[in-house]
Amino acid sequence: MIKTRLIATASSVPEQIITNDDISKIVDTSDEWITQRTGIKERHISSGENTSELVADTARKLLERASVAPENVDLIVVASVTPDFGTPSLACMVQKEIGAVNAVAFDIAAACSGFMFALSIADKYIKAGVYKNAVVIGGETLSKIIDWKDRSTCVLFGDGAGGAYVEKSEDAGIICEDLGSCGDQYHILTEGYSPCSNAFNEIPSGVHPDWYVHMDGREVFKFATKNVIKSMQKVMSQEKLTQGDIKYIVPHQANVRITEVISKKLDIPYEKFYMNMERYGNTSSASIPIALNELNEKGLIARGDKIILSGFGGGMTWGTMLIDW
Ligand code: COA
Repeated sequence: MIKTRLIATASSVPEQIITNDDISKIVDTSDEWITQRTGIKERHISSGENTSELVADTARKLLERASVAPENVDLIVVASVTPDFGTPSLACMVQKEIGAVNAVAFDIAAACSGFMFALSIADKYIKAGVYKNAVVIGGETLSKIIDWKDRSTCVLFGDGAGGAYVEKSEDAGIICEDLGSCGDQYHILTEGYSPCSNAFNEIPSGVHPDWYVHMDGREVFKFATKNVIKSMQKVMSQEKLTQGDIKYIVPHQANVRITEVISKKLDIPYEKFYMNMERYGNTSSASIPIALNELNEKGLIARGDKIILSGFGGGMTWGTMLIDW
């Protein structure tokens, strides 16, 4: 059976590191509050790099690590809610940067589940025999859509990109998935609203308040724990797997307390969840591939290991994938 195998992983983050103490100088918060409520200690914040630069750097590393010539790339899918432009897509900008002249390139948006949705799309094209390979990346500069005066959100997020080069394979690869959307709850997490202003309907100038991230943290917490648990159970029961069969779970890096609840409810040891949000914060669509790349670079996963990637986010959306590494 044809599968989609993750051949190489990579990530790219801005150099600038902003600690909890740095943030406590601009809003009324503390390292203690942020650490206890979220598990985050620091995050990488752009000093001017836009999303396309982080995504292009990730793409370059992927091709180098997979030893693939740019002209042999068939498909580029980028997930982001913070692209540089409305058009061109980040994927087309990256295509130009890396010289992937024969690729089809487009973006998708599914917020923090974005990488899962993008990987799912690449998987379907490959399984259908349309393309043989793909560069799949999640990348964000969330710092540009954060209200840096709002302590309830500005402490949570970071900038970065991460991704995978995937290829058609006869043996290892993506085994199954569960994706979902709940549009009726979209209002609990929003950002980037652009009102319809035109010559016949002028509105006051300046940044619209709903441009910034707005979130009902408690509702998002409930949504995440409920749906990620159900989604992971679905994927594991479909393949008749128990927690003992899973080497690592790479969850969306939003809050250690969410992961603790998931670990407890599913009776999966917390050590099996690969966590790095302490150093990156929540990087939305980049969070899972940044963590996956770290796991891979550390040599903690080997061929034959079964791993689960699972994310949730705005929309509201969720996505889980079981992978035979
Ligand atoms: N520093 C200090 N105090 C803060 C604060 C900060 N950065 N942010 C909020 N507070 C205060 C609130 O004002 C409130 O004070 P009050 O009791 O005097 O009104 C108190 O802390 C509790 O706020 P609350 O929002 O109820 O905290 P919480 O325990 O729900 O934690 C989150 C907030 C955001 C950390 C938590 O809800 C969460 O992680 N939710 C999920 C978010 C998520 O995953 N988002 C990503 C989606 S992809």
